[in-house]
Amino acid sequence: MSAALIDGKTVAEALRGVLAAKVAGLGFKPGLAVVLVGDDPASAVYVRNKDRAAVGAGLAVRTIRLSAETQQAALLAQIAALNADPTVDGILVQLPLPAHLDQKPVIAAIDPAKDVDGLHPVNAGRLANGDPLLVPCTPLGVMKLLAAASIPTRGRRALVLGRSVLVGRPVAALLLNADATVTVAHSRTADLAAECRRADILVAAVGRPEMVRGDWVKPGATVIDVGINRLPDGRLVGDAAFEECRTVAGAITPVPGGVGPMTIACLLENTVTAALARRG
Ligand code: GUN
Repeated sequence: MSAALIDGKTVAEALRGVLAAKVAGLGFKPGLAVVLVGDDPASAVYVRNKDRAAVGAGLAVRTIRLSAETQQAALLAQIAALNADPTVDGILVQLPLPAHLDQKPVIAAIDPAKDVDGLHPVNAGRLANGDPLLVPCTPLGVMKLLAAASIPTRGRRALVLGRSVLVGRPVAALLLNADATVTVAHSRTADLAAECRRADILVAAVGRPEMVRGDWVKPGATVIDVGINRLPDGRLVGDAAFEECRTVAGAITPVPGGVGPMTIACLLENTVTAALARRG
């Protein structure tokens, strides 16, 4: 058997088209501010892609590039200015920050109504309470891919591999809100392979290349691979061993072209959501 491919590129393109049409009818341009501190090359690529997609959807985008030596107080002052700016509907601080900066207070300084990354404790709390407003972009993209592929969640066993604030925890909360029976596994889980084999939906978000093997997958299960890992030979692979898993799974996301394109599309959606909520 060969699994159905869940094509994130196509789903993301469709979502971007819907958003562009919605923005065109608004009569104003939702404003997105992206803050990039330092010169991490991967972050620079992400930010450029976000900028391009946001402009394509008709948003007003401002990218604020700060030097790697920026101090905590200066970054907090920048965020305060964006919070106070009525033309800014969404604020995203690209992560990771340089090591000398303390990430948690930076995220907590963002106005929760403009927190298009969904990482502010108010938004994380709303999600945990089953009353989400702004949800982290990659987890939101995972749920949209499941919906697009008509994968039911109610009553299904879901295994989330990874417990990060950016992906694992919010994905688990979203799956729980969607009536799945959710297990969160991580580096201290006793028997990862056995936990994975029980899952109807397996979400891999650990950042370890090809960790999930074919015999970890329950026959017919859905594998959502959030990992994007660059191997020494230059190949880009996910957290699941794709060729092995696709012979066992019922449906699987490729890397690249699976979850990745959804993250930016969901950032655009969150910016529109925030703009509509703020401006009535
Ligand atoms: N770095 C990698 N992924 C993300 C993301 O979703 N949001 C932010 N702010 N930084 C990231």
